[in-house]
This record gives sequence, structure tokens and C-alpha cells, in this order.
Amino acid sequence: MDEPLSLGATTPLVPPLYQSSVYTIPDLDALDRIMNAEEPGFTYARDAHPNARMLGDKLAKLEGAKWGVITGSGMGSLSAILLATVQQGQRVLASNRLYGRTTQLLGQEFLRYGVTTDFVDANELDAVEAALGKGPRLLLVETASNPLLRVVDVPALAKLCRQFGCLFVVDNTFATPVLTRPLEMGADIVMESLTKMIGGHSDVTLGLLCGNDPDRLPGVSAAVSIWGLASNPFDCWLTDRGMATLPVRVKAASANAAILADWLSEQPGVRQVIYPGRSDHPDHALAGRIMQGGYGNMLCFELEGGRSAVNRLLHRAAGIPFSPSLGHVFTTVSHPGTTSHRYVSPAEKRRQGIGDGLIRMSVGVEEVEMTQRELEKGLV
Ligand SMILES: Cc1ncc(COP(=O)(O)O)c(C=O)c1O
Repeated sequence: MDEPLSLGATTPLVPPLYQSSVYTIPDLDALDRIMNAEEPGFTYARDAHPNARMLGDKLAKLEGAKWGVITGSGMGSLSAILLATVQQGQRVLASNRLYGRTTQLLGQEFLRYGVTTDFVDANELDAVEAALGKGPRLLLVETASNPLLRVVDVPALAKLCRQFGCLFVVDNTFATPVLTRPLEMGADIVMESLTKMIGGHSDVTLGLLCGNDPDRLPGVSAAVSIWGLASNPFDCWLTDRGMATLPVRVKAASANAAILADWLSEQPGVRQVIYPGRSDHPDHALAGRIMQGGYGNMLCFELEGGRSAVNRLLHRAAGIPFSPSLGHVFTTVSHPGTTSHRYVSPAEKRRQGIGDGLIRMSVGVEEVEMTQRELEKGLV
């Protein structure tokens, strides 16, 4: 075994990377003390490791949570909270506007294990109340939905969930804790895909679960370890670095998105622009209450020429990468119909308004004029 290097009285300014899958333990008594949480320490990285612990604690603070657990992806976080809380035969209630894979997770995967999900319009509080009457174990919504940015009334939904004894889980990926802290509005659990804005540089795949009820933590931690949903140290280390600039990035990108949304609405070939910061968005007033300090970096716009117009824009404005994710430091575009919502049925896409000409734009922090100049090439 390599001897640990002594740093004397010095400490590294930047948190070290603990790229080790296992730890050495002095003896069985020390192991017992660590396992019983009587003294600090780690044994096996799938159970816990220092980089995930540091990142989870830092994010928990930002979210106003008492605990934060890091997982290997946003989907891993959603799987973990479902595995930790829902039993066979129980029901789940979910928004009918979610990231496509989340809808599949509930409607296909958990259904195979005897968990039935009812999908409801989370913007219709009467419909949510009626569905809560069926006794679901949890309600899952996105603060601002992927892709069409419908913003939900988190405090009102939290109140309803409390009334019916239903766990309220919010996927806050599109808003980020910089703009919205759902726990402070009454949510029980917040989930974030750290792969997106929080990581911020498109070089990690991670997720977060956080909450305030300490009784919830052991079940979530066990699900992460037993089902193999754990994070790797290097991704946690990179995400910690990304977090240093998170508020600056989110605010700058939101300001750019607001400018681009208005500008796009005046460009040729653009049928409509969808951005919660615009007065023509169906949830504009609500978004003003739920998101503070900006309306986010995500916007959608629909081109008149459908799929061929989208391809033309991707070819001519190639300086804005077609990259089916979001939250990169610079602007990227995606096409929900063939990427994030690829496996959603045509009828369901029509219902949600995900057409062939719909482009989802993740706005970055670069000079907005640069993005406009590039977009102009593809909008003629
Ligand atoms: C709103 C939302 N939730 C969850 C996820 C899943 O996150 P990940 O890709 O980190 O598993 C995504 C991914 O695009 C998303 O957009």
C-alpha cells in the first residue's frame, strides 16, 4: 500500500479528488464505529465517498435542505426516490408534461413491478386534487417542464399533497436552485440532474436528491447503494468546480435567454417563441412567483417549415451545436421530437405541442450578439 503523503501544516485550497473505490480500515472495532456512524470514515465508494459527500452537503445548503445525496445521473436520482418510497401495488401521480425518459420510467418500468402511475395536468389544481383522492404515494412534477416550460404552482401543489399525505417530489433541473428552491415552498424532496446547468460544462453525468426529513435519508442512501446508482468521484469533483460559477452562469444565461426570446419572435420563419419570461407564455405570472431573479436559460421556438427547416438551421447555423442536452456554458440547441421525447407516442407529442419544427434552445453565457449573428444564418 502507498504511504499517504504528508502535507504538514498545509491544506489544498481546492478539495482533493478521492479517486478510490475502497478505503483501508484499522480493525474490526473501527469498522463497527464507522458503520454505526459513531466516527467519520468511508469503506466502499458505492456506499459513500468523500467527493459525493462534500458535493451533496454543498448542494443541500444551496437548496435549503438538511441532507443531499448524489447519484450517478438524474434518472438515477428519480429511480432512487421511487425505489426508496413506493411499494408494489401502490400508485404514483405525475405531471403529464415530463422529460420523456421520466415518463417511460413511470409508465413502463415501474409499471412492470406493479406500480401504476396516473398522469395529470399539474397546472389544473382541481384535477390534481381529484387524482390525489386515489391515494398515490408520491406526486412528481418538474418546476418548469421539459421542453415547453410550463411552470407549476409549487406552493399550491405542496399544500394539496400535505392534505392528502402524499410525498411531493420536484424535478428542479430547468429552474436550478439559483432561481427556485422548492423545499422552501413546501416540497418534500428535490431532484436535480447535475448533468445540466449545475455541472454546467457538459462533462459530467450526475443527479441529486435532497430533503429535510432525516428519516428519508437511510432509505434513499440504501437504494443508491443496493441498486447501484452511485456517483463516481471525478464527476463529483468536476461538478463542485462548476458550482463555483453557478449563480453567475444562471443569471447571465437567463438574461441572454430573455433577449433572445424577444428577438426570435421577430425573426422570419419563426412561428412562435415559448419562454416563461414573455407575457404571452401561459404561466408568465406564475413563473414570476416561482422563479426569482430570472426566468431561466431555456426557451423553445417553432419554425414554420417543420423538420426540413430545422435541418436547414442546423446546417447553416452550425456554430450553435445541435447537442441533445442542456445547461452547457455556451448556447446549444436540441430537437425534442427526435431526442428528449423521441419515444413519446405521436398522439402524446401532439397533445403536448411537440411538433417537427420545435427547437429547444439552452442559452449560454456568451455575448448574445454572437448567438444572434449565427442564428440569422439559419433563419433565412
Ligand atoms: C427535466 C429532466 N429531468 C431529468 C433528466 C435526466 O437527467 P440525466 O440525463 O442526468 O439522467 C433530464 C435529462 O435531460 C431532464 O431534462
